[in-house]
Amino acid sequence: MKHIIIITGASSGMGAEFARQIYAQHSGAGKTTEMWLIAREKDKLNQFARELTGRDVAVRTFAFDLCGANGAGRVNDMLATESQNGKFIVDLLINNAGFGTYGPFDETDPVREMSMIDLNCTSLTGICGFVLPHMQRGGRIINVASLAAFLPLGNFAVYAATKSYVMSFSIALAAELRDRGISVCAMCPGSVSTNFANVASNGKRRDVLHGCDPHRVVAHALRASERGHRVALWSIKWKFKAFMTRFIGRYIGARAAYIFNKRPH
Ligand SMILES: NC(=O)c1ccc[n+]([C@@H]2O[C@H](COP(=O)([O-])OP(=O)(O)OC[C@H]3O[C@@H](n4cnc5c(N)ncnc54)[C@H](OP(=O)(O)O)[C@@H]3O)[C@@H](O)[C@H]2O)c1
Repeated sequence: MKHIIIITGASSGMGAEFARQIYAQHSGAGKTTEMWLIAREKDKLNQFARELTGRDVAVRTFAFDLCGANGAGRVNDMLATESQNGKFIVDLLINNAGFGTYGPFDETDPVREMSMIDLNCTSLTGICGFVLPHMQRGGRIINVASLAAFLPLGNFAVYAATKSYVMSFSIALAAELRDRGISVCAMCPGSVSTNFANVASNGKRRDVLHGCDPHRVVAHALRASERGHRVALWSIKWKFKAFMTRFIGRYIGARAAYIFNKRPH
């Protein structure tokens, strides 16, 4: 029986870090595991995959746009093809691919905002649905949400709403799948040093401000998921911020973010 691990958005940032750490965990473990890495940029993905050299884990790369129903449909096609080749189960699904857009909504590109919803929400939902029939007791899903999931945020309106969706969906899914023995964890990072800000600001801010080390954040999320936690918040500061959102009015939070947290766009 083949064991498959799927990681989306695995060409950079936290997705690549997930791939590195999971690869190291499984390399030489004696179980036939295949790791499917998905992102758009083929060369970057393949170059990264070449870094992963060890035993027992085969790395397969798939370069395509995951956005929307079409993107999730391609994952379903990959699973259908795999079913023809023999028995397999998906042990771990990490829905990590995603992006943000900085700036007040009326100054951002509506097409880009819609495509963010397509990737962060539609595709993630579809992939969960298509992968679940191939999971068994002990299977795990990690959906990458954000600290932004806890409060509506001005200058980040659609992104925060998409991540709120991811967290809400993931917790409800965790409740439904408990009896099947499948765990679902919403990972909710604050600022992490990746290419995120560069993409969100259209190249106007290269680095995530006060970004944390992705290695530690990802290691924590993997541990949290192994322990069956439904929400993964790595630092005390992030836990405190998430807790405090219970006492801040949603409008006040959104307005404060709009006034005090200007983002280059
Ligand atoms: N960094 C932070 O501060 C932070 C905080 C909270 C949450 N997050 C979340 O963490 C996740 C990972 O982001 P990151 O910070 O690691 O940023 P990143 O370095 O920009 O990585 C994003 C990954 O997603 C892939 N991707 C983007 N659009 C895609 C598409 N349409 N189809 C397939 N793959 C796509 C990218 O590869 P290609 O460009 O090759 O497609 C890349 O591998 C995202 O969901 C993000 O919202 C990040």
